Amino acid sequence: MNTRAEHKPVVAVLTVHDEGQFFKGNQRNFRDIFETGTKMGYQVYIVTVRDLKLASETVKGYIFNKDSETWEVRDFPQPQVIYNRIPNRSYELKASVRTKLDEISHASGIELYNPGFFNKWELFKWLRTSETTRKLVPATKRLSNLSSLGKMLSVYPYLYLKPENGKAGKGIMILKYRPNHLMAYRLTIQHDKKSVTYRSVSLSRLWRRIRREAGASPYIIQQGIELATYQKKPFDLRLLVQKNARGFWSVTGVGARLAGKGSITTHVPRGGSIEDPFKLLSALFGPENSTEMLNKIKSTAVQIARQIERGSSLSHGEMSMDLGVDTNGILWFFEANAKPMKFDEPEIRQKSLRRIFQYSSYLAGRMRL
Ligand SMILES: Nc1ncnc2c1ncn2[C@@H]1O[C@H](COP(=O)(O)OP(=O)(O)O)[C@@H](O)[C@H]1O
Ligand SMILES: [Mg+2]
Repeated sequence: MNTRAEHKPVVAVLTVHDEGQFFKGNQRNFRDIFETGTKMGYQVYIVTVRDLKLASETVKGYIFNKDSETWEVRDFPQPQVIYNRIPNRSYELKASVRTKLDEISHASGIELYNPGFFNKWELFKWLRTSETTRKLVPATKRLSNLSSLGKMLSVYPYLYLKPENGKAGKGIMILKYRPNHLMAYRLTIQHDKKSVTYRSVSLSRLWRRIRREAGASPYIIQQGIELATYQKKPFDLRLLVQKNARGFWSVTGVGARLAGKGSITTHVPRGGSIEDPFKLLSALFGPENSTEMLNKIKSTAVQIARQIERGSSLSHGEMSMDLGVDTNGILWFFEANAKPMKFDEPEIRQKSLRRIFQYSSYLAGRMRL
């Protein structure tokens, strides 16, 4: 057998069709994936759910033409690995898309890399069932009614309210109870760049505002963690965890995000900035402790990935994680994203793109066993 072909499967990157720009999703990301794979000697193309016909001889896919700076349509052989990059949950929930993903996962000769998005509530359920990960999870409940919110607030006077299917800080609120203030209840709602705060003597008044903001989206309510700060701004850690060429979870990189002024999250589009985690941790806990802390953080992230995979009963290939370190140096889990966004740190970015293909080779090799 030709060993080159054996180790380098045909990889199709899956998304959904778009009337205007060929296909949906972050074009730059698709281009980077295509170019990295091609450079590494893989045959890579982008395919839409509509064009992926598993029974036909060839598949209509897109490749990027550097000279014309645009995507080109060609016919390709059927892929051995399908890397799912359907860009958001609503597309992924469509019946036609679900049927296709189901077909892929049952097809012989094809491996699905990345089964789909996580839901924040499910993540917490999964992580609570293991001794090793339980202690990392802030107390979390589903937002249901005023009285249960009141109860939660009496135990944890600082709460985060987050949409279960949210991302990039959208829809996040903070609720605080400060008994020695006249306006004891304080609600902060994150808007695009700034946040707005409402104060009230009673929770029931704020409840209406919370309901209006939440709309029909399911929310979780979560114990707020006093994040460690640098120059008075809170920060958290973003880790990228991917399976490597041997199929083992491994930390591709750790970044830090320092909150922007007036933001209740650390997201860069909301004024947050990219920082070196070692620098931030050292400023607080000293350089020696920080090296040890970072190693512990990495091994914990791998444990989290394993437990998420166990909980979901599906095989995943990569995930990003938001972890917080509190003022006492204790680690907390905030969320994991099954379809990581691009990391801005060039080293992490490069490594992450290469790993997609290294793990694809592993998947294709496993299939032949
Ligand atoms: N329970 C919490 N306590 C303190 N900070 C939190 C908490 N939950 C979230 N955050 C902050 O808000 C950010 C966004 O929350 P996250 O759960 O990652 O939602 P999103 O999906 O919108 O990114 C986190 O990176 C962290 O900085
Ligand atoms: Mg996040």
